[in-house]
Amino acid sequence: MEYVLAITGASGIAYGVDILKKLPSKKVLILSNGALEVAKYELKGNVSEKSLKGIADEFYEEGDFGSPVASGSHKFDALIIAPASMNTVSKIAAGISDNLITRAASIALKERRKLVIVFREMPLSTIHLRNLLTLSEAGAYILPASPGFYHKPSNLDDLYNFVTSRVMDIVGLENRLIKRWGD
Ligand SMILES: Cc1cc2nc3c(=O)[nH]c(=O)nc-3n(C[C@H](O)[C@H](O)[C@H](O)COP(=O)(O)O)c2cc1C
Repeated sequence: MEYVLAITGASGIAYGVDILKKLPSKKVLILSNGALEVAKYELKGNVSEKSLKGIADEFYEEGDFGSPVASGSHKFDALIIAPASMNTVSKIAAGISDNLITRAASIALKERRKLVIVFREMPLSTIHLRNLLTLSEAGAYILPASPGFYHKPSNLDDLYNFVTSRVMDIVGLENRLIKRWGD
């Protein structure tokens, strides 16, 4: 199995980092330039760009159209965009493929592979809602980074685990990251 994780320039980079840590191999990481900018503010040097690349099996920059994931003939199983900026959401909904992330999303949709969009934005404009609906209608899974509280979170890791668990459920990965309702 090959999982592609794209981290874009939305607040909530920590959600993407948590997913990256917990995905099994083979995990391919793409960071947008926007993500690198937001990471400077949100990761406070605790997690450097270099260390993120080190967690992944493969790493590509957003401009690398020569990478395998830029082609539909290369088979990856799922593309997870977490966090997904509204910029990236809008471009994918419009069919724009101007960087490796939007290109990989376009491939996931046309090849009917799993595309998981984890967004954090709030509030949402009508345009954001329309774009998310367009992606959902095209087959994408839309996950607000909106953790539940019934597992009684006591720290940030508990909140990240909730979101990561739901992502892993969708891409078909067994996990016990949270206590499930009814367990
Ligand atoms: C500190 C910081 C936080 C940001 N947070 C968000 C956000 O939560 N959602 C969003 O859509 N854009 C946010 N932006 C703006 C995006 O980074 C910007 O639109 C960028 O062009 C996104 O590029 P990308 O989609 O290629 O990553 C933020 C920017 C900065 C510097």
